[in-house]
Amino acid sequence: MGQITPEQFYALVESRKSIRQFKNKEVPRDVLERILMAGMHAPSGKNRQNWRFFVVEGKKRDEYLQYSQKSWLGIKDILQKKLKPSLYEFTERFFFTLGNAPVLVFAYSHNSNEERYHTSIGSVYMAVENMNLACVAEGLGCCTMGAPLEIKKEVDEFLGVTQLEEYKKGELELLCGLVIGYPDHQPPKAPRQLDGRVTWMR
Ligand SMILES: Cc1cc2nc3c(=O)[nH]c(=O)nc-3n(C[C@H](O)[C@H](O)[C@H](O)COP(=O)(O)O)c2cc1C
Repeated sequence: MGQITPEQFYALVESRKSIRQFKNKEVPRDVLERILMAGMHAPSGKNRQNWRFFVVEGKKRDEYLQYSQKSWLGIKDILQKKLKPSLYEFTERFFFTLGNAPVLVFAYSHNSNEERYHTSIGSVYMAVENMNLACVAEGLGCCTMGAPLEIKKEVDEFLGVTQLEEYKKGELELLCGLVIGYPDHQPPKAPRQLDGRVTWMR
């Protein structure tokens, strides 16, 4: 493996930003497979590799827009109070179009009594961050979205997850969605707040 320098690694991590506007350009299957594989290289509690991904493209992706619009209803009041009007409008448009992202990935946790609940969830989010970073390396943009959780049951049905045995046993849980595509904007880096985030002890 070619060694990457610490500078290259930190530059990759720091250049990751949530992308919410995408070019009208398909993402090749082999690129998506590499991104998913990066996700599946993440560590996981008891090495259960309990992530489950559902990749949605094409017509099915178009169908999802009506669900995304519905998830907006659950969030819009909070955001209206929090965001300045121009950003609120941008976010509303994003929920209505998903920024024209050609690929959606829904990340589920396969929970099990044998493992603590929060560990299961943490493992999936480790994979999701690996995928965010892989997108940067591939010249793609990505936005992780908790919004589908507003309409969890409907998303489960939309994806056909409700038909799966693990779901029927109450073991499959939607944790987030990711929208992926080639970036069509360059948002400013969201500033990092460092105060009070780290406590050192010895
Ligand atoms: C768990 C999680 C849920 C998120 N949900 C949404 C979402 O529903 N909609 C959205 O536009 N962005 C969502 N984001 C993206 C955050 O808004 C974004 O990461 C944050 O503002 C920092 O910006 P950055 O990713 O550009 O650094 C989510 C991020 C995470 C980690």
